[in-house]
Amino acid sequence: MGDTTKQVPFVKGLEGVAVAISSISHIDGKAGRLIYRGFSVEELAQYSNFEEVAFLLWHGKLPTDFELTDFKRKLARERSLSSEISQLLRLLPASSHPMDVLRTAVSAMGVLYRRCDGSGFSLIEDAISILSKIPTVLAAFEAARNNRPPVLPSAELDHAANFLYMLHGKLPEEKVARVFDAILILHAEQEMNASTFAATVTASTLSDIFSAITSAIGTLKGPIHGGASERVIEMLDEIGDPANVETFIEEKMSAGKRIMGFGHRIYKTYDPRAVVLKSMAKELVKSDPGRKRLEVALKLEEVVVERLGEKGIYPNVDFYSGIVYSELGIPKDFFTAIFAMARCAGWAAHIMEYTESNRIFRPRAIYEGSTDLRYLEEKAKARCE
Ligand SMILES: CC(C)(COP(=O)(O)OP(=O)(O)OC[C@H]1O[C@@H](n2cnc3c(N)ncnc32)[C@H](O)[C@@H]1OP(=O)(O)O)[C@@H](O)C(=O)NCCC(=O)NCCS
Repeated sequence: MGDTTKQVPFVKGLEGVAVAISSISHIDGKAGRLIYRGFSVEELAQYSNFEEVAFLLWHGKLPTDFELTDFKRKLARERSLSSEISQLLRLLPASSHPMDVLRTAVSAMGVLYRRCDGSGFSLIEDAISILSKIPTVLAAFEAARNNRPPVLPSAELDHAANFLYMLHGKLPEEKVARVFDAILILHAEQEMNASTFAATVTASTLSDIFSAITSAIGTLKGPIHGGASERVIEMLDEIGDPANVETFIEEKMSAGKRIMGFGHRIYKTYDPRAVVLKSMAKELVKSDPGRKRLEVALKLEEVVVERLGEKGIYPNVDFYSGIVYSELGIPKDFFTAIFAMARCAGWAAHIMEYTESNRIFRPRAIYEGSTDLRYLEEKAKARCE
């Protein structure tokens, strides 16, 4: 058998391999820079708002005032859930992880709400529907698992403020809503990471955007991707006090284990999002548990960077985000789902861009198995084993 895969380049984890040409975002991993459509993520977090950033990612330009108002109106109009999805959320066990709930809900939404069918409805309309409904799904699940009626979305509020309103049942303070909005901006896009790749692979088969985003949510959930923020809080609580940091690191390193919230495939210095989140945490944290976690985190950062900085191991986006989320009253198991709520903007941007000049992803695997087994002989041997 002529094995053509022998000549195929093999790169484990696709490290250093480009799979798309894109003008959506760029990471300079050495300089610790992340840009969306030419703008630094720090500037967008400081001056823009999540809806404007989603528009920018999808359309490649900043919106005019009219376009932004129109986009916000369209998003607000799509926030409500149909009775089927509301019922589904009540049927899921209260113990379900919010990422599993979200993956299930977006998949079900594809059955109920999909419009992009080649007959006039565009991909953007389906993307708006998903982006708008994710916060409602999460807040409704939080209500359902606590035996409370859901708080209906408010069309008067921006995306970030509306989520906090539905989650907590009261209007958030302006400063708090602004911080949460900036967090969504920081998490909105990040080039070709694992979940964006998953979304793009699914979309490249010309499947629908609901399926692609369902793939992405399932991928983001993993503890070495978006699931790290939850593990970081558990780790900070386990350490408990800055005085325990050195021993903790010593034990982890001698056991060859990774420290959650550190390291990145592309950033080999400070992740710019971690820098912003760290200063947010310092400014925002007022509660006693929050202060303790922050003290432990600062010490942990110091020790890890001192020991592993040479290898390019620095805090990533997930390191300080959980401390900030907890201070905003967001339950620990919601952290990754908040990430998904924001990243949905980036996933959709890549789905739109990639399918514009689509080519189905179809890589090879290098075969290492047998090639000349005979069924009857092997079956006879198997019977005797
Ligand atoms: C994100 C991550 C998967 C990137 O992994 P990667 O690009 O495959 O990096 P590698 O596995 O090649 O690691 C390179 C080296 O750094 C070390 N390293 C990477 N992340 C580390 C961490 N969090 N703690 C300790 N050491 C780490 C590896 O052990 C390896 O060391 P070695 O060369 O001596 O074997 C990895 O850093 C990680 O698992 N981090 C913890 C989980 C996390 O915070 N994820 C969120 C990412 S935003």
